[in-house]
Amino acid sequence: MNMKVLAFVGSPRKGGNTETLIDEALRGAKDVGAAIEKIRLSELTIKPCLGCFECLEKGQCIHRDDFDALRGKMLAASHWILGTPVYFFAPSGQLKTFIDRWISIPRDLTEGKKVMGLIALEDTTTETARTTAEMLDLTVRERRMTFTGAVVAPHLLNVGDAQMHPEYLEAAYSAGRDLVA
Ligand SMILES: Cc1cc2nc3c(=O)[nH]c(=O)nc-3n(C[C@H](O)[C@H](O)[C@H](O)COP(=O)(O)O)c2cc1C
Repeated sequence: MNMKVLAFVGSPRKGGNTETLIDEALRGAKDVGAAIEKIRLSELTIKPCLGCFECLEKGQCIHRDDFDALRGKMLAASHWILGTPVYFFAPSGQLKTFIDRWISIPRDLTEGKKVMGLIALEDTTTETARTTAEMLDLTVRERRMTFTGAVVAPHLLNVGDAQMHPEYLEAAYSAGRDLVA
């Protein structure tokens, strides 16, 4: 079975809390035999969806940018990890802009993939991440994929904070392992 995990870092902060959690999840997936790859969305040019629906007519998005190459990688992977900080009760703009471009991929091409979320936030309660987790869950299922759940890691503000929480690192590692196991 093809076990390729593609992880998307929704935070623009290199080495930040989201990326730290993603690295742990990928380590878990790799330890059970998956091939892994990490994509920092903020380093790519992914233009916002124009809502023109040309993709539905012509089978290709009107934009020519880094999503073209990403699309091939997305379809080749069996599992995805979506990582994001909470930005005002929602995913980061980088992750949302990327997700909006999924409209150009027919659902039957993503059907059956397994997807998990990783969410970092400053607030001390997981309730603040509820809308973000729900959005990821609903969107993934709308695309006929399986959402295996989100690891929510509150009380993280600055780069380096996630490393001070071994419980989050363990939860991310286990979730990555369980995603493909
Ligand atoms: C624009 C912006 C909006 C934010 N909004 C929230 C919020 O609504 N609730 C919250 O708990 N944290 C909020 N945060 C804090 C981040 O979620 C937190 O710092 C997180 O750990 C950043 O993850 P990163 O290190 O991967 O960038 C916000 C941060 C920024 C920059």
